[in-house]
Amino acid sequence: MSSKQFFDEVAGDWDEMRERFFSERVREKAFAVACVQPGRAAADVGAGTGFITEGLARRGLRVIAVDQSEEMLATMQKKFAPFEGIEYRKGEAENLPVETSAVDYVFANMYLHHVESPPEAIREMARILKPQGRLTITDADEHNFEFLREEHHDRWLGFKREDIRKWFEQAGLRNVSVCDINELCTVDSNCGSQRARISIFVASGEK
Ligand SMILES: C[S@@+](CC[C@H](N)C(=O)[O-])C[C@H]1O[C@@H](n2cnc3c(N)ncnc32)[C@H](O)[C@@H]1O
Repeated sequence: MSSKQFFDEVAGDWDEMRERFFSERVREKAFAVACVQPGRAAADVGAGTGFITEGLARRGLRVIAVDQSEEMLATMQKKFAPFEGIEYRKGEAENLPVETSAVDYVFANMYLHHVESPPEAIREMARILKPQGRLTITDADEHNFEFLREEHHDRWLGFKREDIRKWFEQAGLRNVSVCDINELCTVDSNCGSQRARISIFVASGEK
């Protein structure tokens, strides 16, 4: 099964799964680091069912939500029908369906560990930022819970923070910070024999 098929299949259950994995404090901390301001434009890449998108829309930002999975996008669209100012776009990490220099903020929560080439995905997210715009990524620190590859289609077992910093800088981003947010991603294996408890970092940089 491909990653896209996996996420298409779990789209209807994703909100419930996400609540078990990590809390809303993750997005609050990402928004604080990015200093989000109402009236601005943002992209939520690997948006899923809109964990980040919802927080941004509630703060008065316009959001372009991008995901490879039509089912994730359809679930989100149904849920957020009352919100104005959200666009739903199907797209892939290497070729985001967003114009160059289009948005003030790009967020990607728990997305990077699914993409084939994290440095390329970061470069592509930097491309769609306006000058002085800010890319903010929340994701897992490096770990060794192999069951996540098979059960959750994780391609990377988290990241070393120094690699994230290097990829941000290679993408031309300045004032890069990579910090702990004191939050965990907690996932039980299907057979119940393992529990992954993984620390989450927030990385941010300016174009
Ligand atoms: C773990 S989910 C996180 C969803 C959401 N950001 C959240 O925090 O709840 C990862 C999402 O990234 C999307 N994704 C994975 N690889 C992708 C790729 N190469 N291009 C676009 N989207 C991708 C998946 O379809 C899925 O919706």
